[in-house]
Amino acid sequence: MAAPHPGLVGRPVYLDYNGTTPIDPAVVEAMAPYLSVEFGNPSSTHAYGVGASVALARAREQVSSLVSGRGGRVVFTSSGSEADALAIRGAVLAAIDAARTPVHVVTQVTEHPAVLAACRYLEQRHAVLVTYLGVDAHGRVDPDELGAALTQDTVLVSIMHANNETGTLQPVAEIAAITRDHGVLLHCDAAQSIGKVEVDVDALGVDLLTIVGHKMHAPKGIAALYVREGVALVPLVGGGGQESGLRAGTENVPYIVGLGAAAKLAAEALSRGESRRLVALRDRMHVELEAGLPGRVHLNGHPGERLPNTLNVSIDGVPALGLLASAVDLAASAGSACHAGHDEPSPVLTAMGLPAAVALTAIRLSVGRWTTAEDAARAAAALITLAE
Ligand SMILES: Cc1ncc(COP(=O)(O)O)c(C=O)c1O
Repeated sequence: MAAPHPGLVGRPVYLDYNGTTPIDPAVVEAMAPYLSVEFGNPSSTHAYGVGASVALARAREQVSSLVSGRGGRVVFTSSGSEADALAIRGAVLAAIDAARTPVHVVTQVTEHPAVLAACRYLEQRHAVLVTYLGVDAHGRVDPDELGAALTQDTVLVSIMHANNETGTLQPVAEIAAITRDHGVLLHCDAAQSIGKVEVDVDALGVDLLTIVGHKMHAPKGIAALYVREGVALVPLVGGGGQESGLRAGTENVPYIVGLGAAAKLAAEALSRGESRRLVALRDRMHVELEAGLPGRVHLNGHPGERLPNTLNVSIDGVPALGLLASAVDLAASAGSACHAGHDEPSPVLTAMGLPAAVALTAIRLSVGRWTTAEDAARAAAALITLAE
């Protein structure tokens, strides 16, 4: 267990690690010189530039190593949303440039809005046909259904590794076996799984993979896209030839250094079995909630194929937004959102077949690096008291 995080001491129990994570103090320390003395532009050939370009190369290696990405390159972006857009728009526009028309893309309904928006953009602006596959009651795509959806025009499939709301893991390796057979590229948004479970681009069989800093203890505003060798992309932003011509703009060296440091820490945490500690905390809260509210707690998401840190449950008869507003000593998230005075159920839970009334009672408790057994017990006790 890490020493207490200065951002969490004396404040509500933080159970929203899928929303964002506290920056690891070791990441801040690694970044500090690049916010002060090491200010060089990595494209400059003098000593100041060389210092920055060495740091950039080290960070790229650290991120690449976390995803075992030797057979490809890591492109730094400003966000996961940008990495998703670069993968999806970039790969499809490259196919169109190569005179592959008509063009077809396959994705699924519980993807993050960044993926869905990139698909909608292609539909609306480039007349690309997109198939949105449904999911089962656990939020999983059926690989056979995906195989049946592929046509001779399909150029890209985009399927997330783990869902942000439920933690459900998609059968990505099985899907990759199908896309490979059909010569179709596979993009995987691994924003939520990186650092929580092993993510190996070769074991998963993906061509493009989204990595997000603020979900793994780096700052917000830095992310990366892994691009397998030989995959053509049209850049979203042109200009200088940074990032192998795939993303123009002078590199954000301090934040990239932070992402590299966070990747190294994530690899170390995984190898010392941190996932098992998270499972124990997650399951403890689940068991305590079930014991304190008998028959009223229902798991949303896959019971086994799920992120080690994520517990999404509906509690009968208790609207989530009201419950979390009353739980002042707890920071967690509801799938539902309040729009124009009305509570809207989560589209992810709705796609899994939950009636609106049940989806509106769903809360997401996501644990992480600084969650203690005491935090888990306090959170469960507070929720039981409020829901009784
Ligand atoms: C699955 C998934 N993809 C993409 C993103 C977007 O990342 P960013 O906030 O860096 O744009 C998120 C963030 O919530 C996410 O959970």
